[in-house]
Amino acid sequence: MVNREYLAMLDNKSVIRELSEYATARGKEIGYENVFDYSLGNPSVPAPDSYRDISVRLLQEEEPLSLHGYNPTMGDPRVKEKVAESLNKRFGMSYTAGHIFPTSGAAGAIAHALRCVTEPGEEIMVFAPYFSEYVAYINGAGAKIRVVPIKADDFQINFEAADAIFNEKTAAVLINTPNNPSGAVYSEETLTRLAEVLTQKSAQYGHTIFLISDEPYREIVFDGKKQAYPAKFYPHTLTCYSFSKSLSVPGERVGYVAVSPDCEQADKMVAMMGQISRGLGHNCPSSLPMLAAAYCLEDTADLSVYETNMNLLYDTFKELGFTVPRPGGTFYIMPKALEDDAVAFCKKALDYDLVFVPGNGFEAPGFFRVAYCVNTEKVERSLAAIRRFVEAEYPNR
Ligand SMILES: Cc1ncc(COP(=O)(O)O)c(C=O)c1O
Repeated sequence: MVNREYLAMLDNKSVIRELSEYATARGKEIGYENVFDYSLGNPSVPAPDSYRDISVRLLQEEEPLSLHGYNPTMGDPRVKEKVAESLNKRFGMSYTAGHIFPTSGAAGAIAHALRCVTEPGEEIMVFAPYFSEYVAYINGAGAKIRVVPIKADDFQINFEAADAIFNEKTAAVLINTPNNPSGAVYSEETLTRLAEVLTQKSAQYGHTIFLISDEPYREIVFDGKKQAYPAKFYPHTLTCYSFSKSLSVPGERVGYVAVSPDCEQADKMVAMMGQISRGLGHNCPSSLPMLAAAYCLEDTADLSVYETNMNLLYDTFKELGFTVPRPGGTFYIMPKALEDDAVAFCKKALDYDLVFVPGNGFEAPGFFRVAYCVNTEKVERSLAAIRRFVEAEYPNR
């Protein structure tokens, strides 16, 4: 018999994928340039030249057997050292190579981090709105997701609601800042309070509650600001990173987990991840892309386009009367729909070739997500379509 759980998952098709498929099909009818497809979080700028150049150099100069060979279970020591050094320099941490575990993107990082700190049946707390894949990640680790409702005014953490959800089974809290789908950047104040709450709840329940910090958008922060580094605030932190967005290389599947040096069992975690890797069939990310990324740790693609796009969309949404917190980073914005039912709102938008994603899948009903990793010329053309849509469908808003 085939596995019933995975078979049943086929009925829960991702709304985002469906919308993206719709946009592709519609593009065949009217030309994709005329479909304002804001559905997928796929980077829209090329990788920096440095990533290409180092990849070429490695291919030309490195000894092929070792370049294309298996990495050690716990990752290429050169990569681990460079990542530790860079994080220490940037964030004042004291990682060693032994705290770094290279992975297949953030998804691979979270898969390992979750398994390191949970036993089957334990709970992982997430804060809405959250990246919908967390459900699959957490279920896949045998844990249970517990969702804290949104704080709609600024998309920071709803601490009052969280208080009622903590219990003796809470194994870890999974945060994502800068946030997909809201674009919120957690402030120092939020991270300080989170650390206080985790310390207090760990004491109350007699075990460490870990922090898993998912940071693929760490480098996409607006207004010249920087994302405060969550691991600086709480010692028991597993930082999950991906180069997918910073270097615009999502297909290469490269990222890492960084285990905070003061984390409980910090000296065992990476070795545990090596063991977890065996069962997951992960066995280290591809050697060449990971090594190339390790030589470009301080580089990024030209991410400025996302801020330009955000400002165009934010100003238009505000002018049209939407309630919308201004994103501090990422390439997402999450306005409140102009009717209670965001699914109906997004369906109507399709008639204007605007592809938005209803917030329901992110546990933010009533909101919708706009992924503006799209070229700016198209964003500019979409503004007229947004105006036409809103003025025709919601004249009395
Ligand atoms: C919040 C968040 N976490 C994790 C991931 C997975 O990242 P990766 O594709 O690098 O595995 C994504 C991808 O879009 C994301 O948005």
